[in-house]
Amino acid sequence: MTLTAAPPTTDTQRLLKLRDGVAPVWSRYTDLVVERGEGSWLTTIDGTRYLDYSSGIGVTNTGHSHPRVAAAIAQQAAKVIHAQQNIVYHQPGLELHARLPHLFPAPADPADPIGLFLSNSGAEAIEAAVKLAKAATRRPIVVAFRGGFHGRTHGTMALTSSGVRIRGHYEPLMGGVHFVPFPDPLRQGGGSSAAALEKTMAAIDELFATMCYPDDVAAFLVEPILGEGGYVVPDDGFLRALRALADQHGIMLIADEVQTGYGRTGRMFATEWTGARPDILVMAKGIASGMPLSGIMARRSVMDKFTAGTHGGTYGGNAVSCAAALATLDVIEDEHLVANAEKMGQRLLAGLTAAASSSRNPNIAQVRGRGLMAAIEFAEPDTLKPRPDLTKKLLAGALERHLLLLSCGTYSQAVRVIQPLVTTEAEIDQAVETIGEVLATLA
Ligand SMILES: Cc1ncc(COP(=O)(O)O)c(C=O)c1O
Repeated sequence: MTLTAAPPTTDTQRLLKLRDGVAPVWSRYTDLVVERGEGSWLTTIDGTRYLDYSSGIGVTNTGHSHPRVAAAIAQQAAKVIHAQQNIVYHQPGLELHARLPHLFPAPADPADPIGLFLSNSGAEAIEAAVKLAKAATRRPIVVAFRGGFHGRTHGTMALTSSGVRIRGHYEPLMGGVHFVPFPDPLRQGGGSSAAALEKTMAAIDELFATMCYPDDVAAFLVEPILGEGGYVVPDDGFLRALRALADQHGIMLIADEVQTGYGRTGRMFATEWTGARPDILVMAKGIASGMPLSGIMARRSVMDKFTAGTHGGTYGGNAVSCAAALATLDVIEDEHLVANAEKMGQRLLAGLTAAASSSRNPNIAQVRGRGLMAAIEFAEPDTLKPRPDLTKKLLAGALERHLLLLSCGTYSQAVRVIQPLVTTEAEIDQAVETIGEVLATLA
């Protein structure tokens, strides 16, 4: 889906002629050629400003090119760019390894402190998490949830079920993966999150009765809120129920917080809303404000099962990315971005709910979200048949009005609003007004 905004100037036309070499595998939302970014805004080479409520798919939590992050990157790049993890240590890496574990969403245990492994992308970190769970338990199976998205490598495709385009035509994939339904209140519970949760837990019981023994399961792999799968917020009891089952059977609970983490939902990590402790926490996206970095955290008693040489990678824990990650943490703390995400998220959800209701569009099935992770789902009123055509119209109308949004959901039936954590009340109101305007034209 490529949406076209304002007619391009000569400079844009000249640059767009160079795009023939770009692999078509990149599905594309817009043909904007961007020159710079600041806070919640992107500016094209034509000088047109766009309110970027896509955040580069949930990455630019501190805003585009935050001056403190940019300065940290420049300073580190001038000192050393690549100081390889197997060969030497570097200062930003060591400092990050000391600092991040304090953010692990569970009470500290001095007898078993938290360890950190760094890599480059979300998918790579998921690979690490699953390998660690297998190494620690010496068990072969992973149980994942329908609608989940965990990446595009062969291993992570096998764990993904958010849409057939991700994994179709790529079989055979990694074996030993079983899926159960995610507790989606709209589609599994008829609107009730408790009913949806009950169905999911019954499906796990059935899985253990029919397909695999629980003591062969290394891990439950779960997003605390479905991301690509549609910004579905489950019952807060979901992760607690998984935790209890994991404890009962010696299974590891892997929380994929690639999209929900780093303040996005109004908590540093979304598992904090639930009170459930993950065994392995997966982070990426917002971790270094756009520099490639990802990581997993786990108790040392688990992490130590990753013995020397059994996992790794050339670029993991890159020095410039680590410097960006430290500056990102400084900005998040000093600018109180997690609290801002909660506050702005409440304003956003209230605004979107009001805009949806005043549009009187019967095809708006649900407005939902937590913090700065909100979605509007389009479906036919009685059958819940997805309406991706309306998603497309909302995205196009928003783009015409210089607002960047994204789609999500298996059928692209939902529009997601995923802004930087630095966003302001005025920007939220502007976006809500724009979305309301477009929704009114769809009614
Ligand atoms: C929840 C989740 N896990 C994993 C990934 C994969 O991350 P990456 O694209 O950095 O490989 C994503 C990416 O969108 C994600 O949302």
